[in-house]
Amino acid sequence: MKPRFYVSTPIYYVNGAPHIGHAYTSIAADVLARFKRLDGYDVFYLTGTDEHGQKVARAAAEAGLGPQEFADRVSADFRDMADKMGVSYDDYIRTTEPRHHRSCAELWRRIAANGHIYPGHYEGWYSVRDEAFHDEAELTTAADGTKLAPSGAPVAWVREPSFFFRLSAFQDKLLELYETQPDFILPAGRRNEVVSFVRGGLRDLSVSRTSFTWGIPVPDAPGHVMYVWLDALNNYVTACGFPDPEAPRWKFWPADVHVVGKDIIRFHAVYWPAFLMAAGLPLPRRVSSHGWWTVEGEKMSKSLGNVIEPRALVTRYGRDPVRYFLLRQKPFGDDGTISHPALLSRINVELANELGNLAQRSLSLIARNLGGRRPGRGAGTAEDAELLDAAAALPEALRERLDRQVFNEALEEAWKIVRAANAYIDRQAPWALRKTDPARMEAVLRVLVDVLRVLATGLTAFMPDAMGRMLDQLGVPAEARDFAGLATILADGEVLPPPVGVFPRLVEDEA
Ligand code: MSP
Repeated sequence: MKPRFYVSTPIYYVNGAPHIGHAYTSIAADVLARFKRLDGYDVFYLTGTDEHGQKVARAAAEAGLGPQEFADRVSADFRDMADKMGVSYDDYIRTTEPRHHRSCAELWRRIAANGHIYPGHYEGWYSVRDEAFHDEAELTTAADGTKLAPSGAPVAWVREPSFFFRLSAFQDKLLELYETQPDFILPAGRRNEVVSFVRGGLRDLSVSRTSFTWGIPVPDAPGHVMYVWLDALNNYVTACGFPDPEAPRWKFWPADVHVVGKDIIRFHAVYWPAFLMAAGLPLPRRVSSHGWWTVEGEKMSKSLGNVIEPRALVTRYGRDPVRYFLLRQKPFGDDGTISHPALLSRINVELANELGNLAQRSLSLIARNLGGRRPGRGAGTAEDAELLDAAAALPEALRERLDRQVFNEALEEAWKIVRAANAYIDRQAPWALRKTDPARMEAVLRVLVDVLRVLATGLTAFMPDAMGRMLDQLGVPAEARDFAGLATILADGEVLPPPVGVFPRLVEDEA
């Protein structure tokens, strides 16, 4: 039986159009899903949309549409964005689906049956933009007197009947979780923030709202809809078929990794495990969080008009180069900035000059000097062995990095091989061997074919189209395009397709 792997993205609010931040979370999770598939896992990759709550209800009203109709439109747009970014999700969940209503009602019943929900009144600050309750002490005051949440979102005073979740009862269990599973939250810096937040004491959480209706009704409590985060977090078990233990996908729960942005760690690493503990369900294994993107150093915002539309970026730079850039440019947990010069340099230097040229040089020498037939292996020198061994170690190096979600380090491991292979081709100078030692020329070109094959296989998770084209040119059969397939030696003498560049150089003034 194949080992299993379940990875999720947050489900996106349908209050507005998708931007590059959403695409980033989904691409990162996609790399993990694709990598595990390459590595022989049975993968379940979940994404989708978060459609209830005040924020969405307000956006719909502003658009002059009913909330369901509005959610249908925006959800479809997010799905289109995912498809255009090459996001290989296995399920696309929407919180307005009947399966999710059923699942949330049952989760609520279980938590309540275990004595962790009680009725009361909520009185305090609420931010619709964050869909979060805030303590007075967390707030700041803007110049015009508006109270602001730590995120900068305005807050308003709310007073309404509400059910509460006994979050305070889970403080010790949560601390024990962080203690016994030190990598439950990554990176470590974020883990420490969560630990100190929980150590500071947890207040019970308001988990139902009565001042609006756009949500999942609380069972047997007319007028109450579930707090949107309880509803939203539960999507991760709904998609596995909860509450049906016989559902085919129930085998995937608990999730291996919830990929999230740094702004929503508290919900995933505090509330979510507490809800699951309260319901008696197994806990996810990891919450891996990333930093935020700014644009040329500025926060993305509608008012600044600098919001990057991911599909527009793809039109300009190509899908795989954008995916590569986002995971290469900054450490996953850190903030980073997107700029045209940075994109141009990564694409032209690393993709076109380093990786693209390596393939192009090798394949065109094969086309010109060997009639386009795949070279045979030679006796092998120490230098050949050194490069081949380094390449053979790449899958394990990637595995180790991606198991910690350090995407940029994974790419750096691949690029060590790219650079070593470029140094090898320069030193061996196969073009000069054509006359002097054709057998050695052939052996050198074969080393390059084998190294390119490992690189293209390993990088498929990051750049599926471009690496697919590279594997085509190397003549690697479809069934051998994974890590297990690397064990099959490619036959000598097969005719390869004519070489074509995989990464075009971007010309400055075009862009
Ligand atoms: N609906 C909630 C998640 C519920 S999950 C059970 C939500 N949605 S969101 O649409 O606002 O944001 C989703 C993701 O986009 C978050 O992981 C967030 O960090 C990410 N990003 C939003 N803006 C971003 C940047 N500028 N940069 C990087 N990622 C950012 O939160």
